Amino acid sequence: MHNITKIGHLTDIHYSYPENITIKQLMSKRLYGYIFWKLSKGKRFDFSMLKEIKEDIKKEQLDHIVVTGDLTQLCLPEEFYKVKTFLQSLHSQENISIIPGNHDFYVSEGKKHFYKEFQLQYPFVKIINNCALIGVNSAVVTPPVVSYGYLTQSQIKKLQEITERLDNRYFNILLIHHPPINGITFWNKALINTKEIIKILKTGIINLVLYGHIHRFSIRYFFSINGKIPVISASPLAYTLRKHNQIGGYNIYEINRANNKWRLIIKRKTYNFQTKSFDVETFDFFIFS
Ligand SMILES: [Fe+2]
Repeated sequence: MHNITKIGHLTDIHYSYPENITIKQLMSKRLYGYIFWKLSKGKRFDFSMLKEIKEDIKKEQLDHIVVTGDLTQLCLPEEFYKVKTFLQSLHSQENISIIPGNHDFYVSEGKKHFYKEFQLQYPFVKIINNCALIGVNSAVVTPPVVSYGYLTQSQIKKLQEITERLDNRYFNILLIHHPPINGITFWNKALINTKEIIKILKTGIINLVLYGHIHRFSIRYFFSINGKIPVISASPLAYTLRKHNQIGGYNIYEINRANNKWRLIIKRKTYNFQTKSFDVETFDFFIFS
């Protein structure tokens, strides 16, 4: 078993490729998303950064990469294809775990394109060295302006069964697009059924929660019977905003077990447009028994 597992966390790529969009494709919520992208949101993303990001990720020699949703902007087939090609350039397919976000299911047709490119079922469990990754799908098709999420009852039931089987031989990481605890985002963007997730987190079997959706870096804590669980989001991968917690980039988690305790080190890597390199911020490590 490896001593240290290095996991990269990418989120909210919002890969946009509306060049060939048809009138038929626009006759939906996509029209709202298209106008918003052209007028405002698109200015916050710069996909030319992806080249540098790719080189940096390659250098890091990550064991695994997780992508916590919103791979695309308008869930167009070309967007899925292009973002898949980018992800394939980062690591082998079995070493990338993907969950969808609300933009990947922006209209119901998006589900078909998502599952065509990424053959996945939710929830899933993947063992990576000393870690267990548990991925759920909180993305649902919503009307314009709102982007709430929901976990179906069948997913909740399966997730409960999975967590009952997990044990602390592994460092258990939950992947979800929407923030799984209350108070992080507005009601119209929140996960509707946080109650069920909170019930699972309270048992203390999950050691770390990774999510996206809020478009900023954040570390919060949830207090379980086994102590505090970090609940962490990353900035959108190719974001150009300069406000500290919104600078584009990705996170790396280094996890190892020594003397019957888990140690987690968080590295936030942000792209510096002036130096054309990455700044690194390392956060206090956490010890779990
Ligand atoms: Fe989202």
